[in-house]
Formats: sequence, structure tokens, C-alpha cells
Amino acid sequence: MKTKLIAPSLLSADFGNLQRDIEMLNNSQADWLHIDVMDGRFVPNISFGFPVMKTIQQHAKKFVDVHLMIVEPEKYVEEFIDYGADLVSVHYEACTHLHRTINLIQSKGAKAGVVLNPSTPVLMLEDIIADVDLVLLMSVNPGFGGQKFIENTYKKIAETKDLILSNNSTALIEVDGGVNLDNASKLFEAGADVLVAGNAVFSTENPERTIELLKI
Ligand code: DX5
Ligand code: ZN
Repeated sequence: MKTKLIAPSLLSADFGNLQRDIEMLNNSQADWLHIDVMDGRFVPNISFGFPVMKTIQQHAKKFVDVHLMIVEPEKYVEEFIDYGADLVSVHYEACTHLHRTINLIQSKGAKAGVVLNPSTPVLMLEDIIADVDLVLLMSVNPGFGGQKFIENTYKKIAETKDLILSNNSTALIEVDGGVNLDNASKLFEAGADVLVAGNAVFSTENPERTIELLKI
């Protein structure tokens, strides 16, 4: 499944009209729904948890991509899968026993991703790359939508691609933070398979059209 996928982040949706926004995404060319869960400990912001996941599960018709920005994610991954997560990504920086957590996610029938903060080197993935379904490269410091893209991400995409190839891994590369109409095509060219876009989609007058444009 190596293709240009767009994963709008619901963090930038209108939570008073969440069902409406999910239905808009169902009818759009969005490939995945990106769900940002923040605990106020791993990141300096709190987003939402299981009650909102329940609404997402009731209405979403797309692949559900859950990004856990929480400490001790192993305590909660099973519940997120029960609430319909197709993919659960956990931060390298939040997992003492990353291999065990990745195995746990996959044993419950979901895909498993590992996330790197902007300051964490790609080489830290050398001994887990063969086991993960996805590498999520943060292109902003996690915690908030609408931040500026960090250019060093291009270098990390190239390094991740090399690591994937040299280990015969099938992992996808996802990029998250500050993605917009100016950098999306460059990111796909550089080797990204999936782009997350929050602000770039929801701050526009025609989010469905913006999703189409992000794929060009
Ligand atoms: C940041 C989140 C991102 C964020 C992306 O902590 O992981 O998914 O919502 O938002 P934009 O596209 O607005 O940078
Ligand atoms: Zn995210």
C-alpha cells in the first residue's frame, strides 16, 4: 500500500459538530482519519479520550489512525483497539519496552506504528524497524496543531527509507505536523507514504477540495 495517503487530523475539527466533520471526511478523498490523543503529561496539552473515540467509531468509515501522545501507552492500547483503531502508534520516547508494546498492538489485530519526536534520531529504530507497520515522523514538537513544519524532517525521511530498505521492512512512512499545500508534494517525493494534515484542511473554506489538492 505504498501510495499518497492523506490523513486529516480531527484535532482541528469542530468538536461541537464532530459528526458533521467526520461525515465530511467520509465523503472526501481522505484515506485515513488521524486521531491525536494527548494526556497533558507526555505533551503539554490535553485533547480527548474514550468518549470521543466512541463517537468516531460510530461515524467513521475510513481507516482509523490513532496517535497516542501519552505516557505508559501500553495501559490503553487494547481499549483504543476496542474503540475501532485500525492502527495505533506509540512514541519511542514514551515506551520503556517498545518491542513488547508493538507486539501487544499487533496481537490484538491492529497495525502498530512507532513515532519519533523531531529530536530523536532515526537510528534508534534499527532494532525495531522489522517489527513495525509504520514509522511516524513528527515534523513539529507534538502537542498542538497549526505549528511550523521543521525542515530537518526531509533528512529523516531519507534516513527512514534507507533503514526500511536495508531491513526488508514493509513499514510505511507517515509525516505529522505543519503539512500544507506548499510542502505536501515535496514530502511525497521525498518518500512519505502518509501525510497528516490538521490545520491545512480544517482552516480552509473547502476542506474536501484541500484534501484533493494535498494529493497532487
Ligand atoms: C501534533 C499532532 C498533529 C497535529 C497536526 O501534536 O500530532 O497530528 O494535529 O496538526 P497540523 O497539521 O495543524 O500541524
Ligand atoms: Zn498526530
